[in-house]
Amino acid sequence: MRAKIIGTGYSLPAFRADNDYLATLVDTSDEWISERTGIRARHLAKEETTLSMSAEAARMALERANFRAEDVELLIVATITGDMDTPSTACQVQKEIGAKHALAFDINAACSGFLYSLHVAEAFIESGTYRNALLIGAETLSKIVDWTDRTTCVLFGDGAGAALVTASENGGLLSQSLGSNGEKWDVLFCEGRPNENPLRAKGQKCGYLKMDGQEVFKFAVRTVPQCIEDALAKAGLKPEEIDLFILHQANKRIIQAVAKRLGMAEEEFPMNMDECGNTSAASLPILLAQLDERGRLHPGDRIVLSGFGAGLTWGACVLEW
Ligand code: COA
Repeated sequence: MRAKIIGTGYSLPAFRADNDYLATLVDTSDEWISERTGIRARHLAKEETTLSMSAEAARMALERANFRAEDVELLIVATITGDMDTPSTACQVQKEIGAKHALAFDINAACSGFLYSLHVAEAFIESGTYRNALLIGAETLSKIVDWTDRTTCVLFGDGAGAALVTASENGGLLSQSLGSNGEKWDVLFCEGRPNENPLRAKGQKCGYLKMDGQEVFKFAVRTVPQCIEDALAKAGLKPEEIDLFILHQANKRIIQAVAKRLGMAEEEFPMNMDECGNTSAASLPILLAQLDERGRLHPGDRIVLSGFGAGLTWGACVLEW
């Protein structure tokens, strides 16, 4: 049995912040941001939370698949920005949508989180432990971004995407290639809340997202093509046999470099970072759900999903829709 996506959903905050709006907060411009990244706008949470967006995306995925929440057996939320340190966002979503029979937990793998959750779900489904899994990637990155730091705050957005995966004899996940390199954790990180126990010095501050942009860029353009090629080789496929390459929406120039390296046209790499920015773990499932909504995914299509992010972490998979 293979893991197959049978329903997708997404949720974006109502407030759309374009680059001109960001230029009122920090010394930047629409020209600089859009030329270097391809991002023109992002959605930022005013009322929305990681939980509310997760639940909305999950309900849409279940509805599109005509599947009952109480039949969900595994519920994973990939996030680095849960509303609470404990319980997990997954347990909160479980209550919110009524997935009362599911085993629920979160995964922290930053922008690769959705791919990691798919990896875990596949192992459970292939082993026969569970017959289905509801996977959610959700982030409220606006709460960990330093809104005085123009080198990072212009890049990120909030949102959630979801995919319902079931055991299937036809199609589904054909191959995967994932990795982690903790040696390089310090090129992209966010410190947690400070320890204020009585033994520690007072006055430590909560951390914000910090990034060495050029290091991340170099890592991405080197590693993403490698893991896609590895996943393709495992599936016995060539790039030209793939219908769509759905990549993590961090930067248009990274996607262009990957397309060039694989010898594929940019048109095969749909993008939404112009409207959503980088939504970390939510990026892949949001784009997948939007493409599904627009009728861009057809039964039998071969699709590559690939992402990279803090950790460092990365991954690619090949699936048949
Ligand atoms: N607006 C205007 N100027 C900005 C700016 C902004 N938002 N951010 C940085 N700059 C300035 C810098 O201060 C620097 O000025 P200086 O030359 O006077 O020192 C100049 O622009 C160039 O900065 P640099 O960092 O060299 O730009 P870059 O070409 O490397 O682009 C990124 C920066 C962040 C867009 C690019 O490195 C990148 O996309 N990296 C990958 C990041 C990523 O994807 N992270 C998420 C991973 S999941």
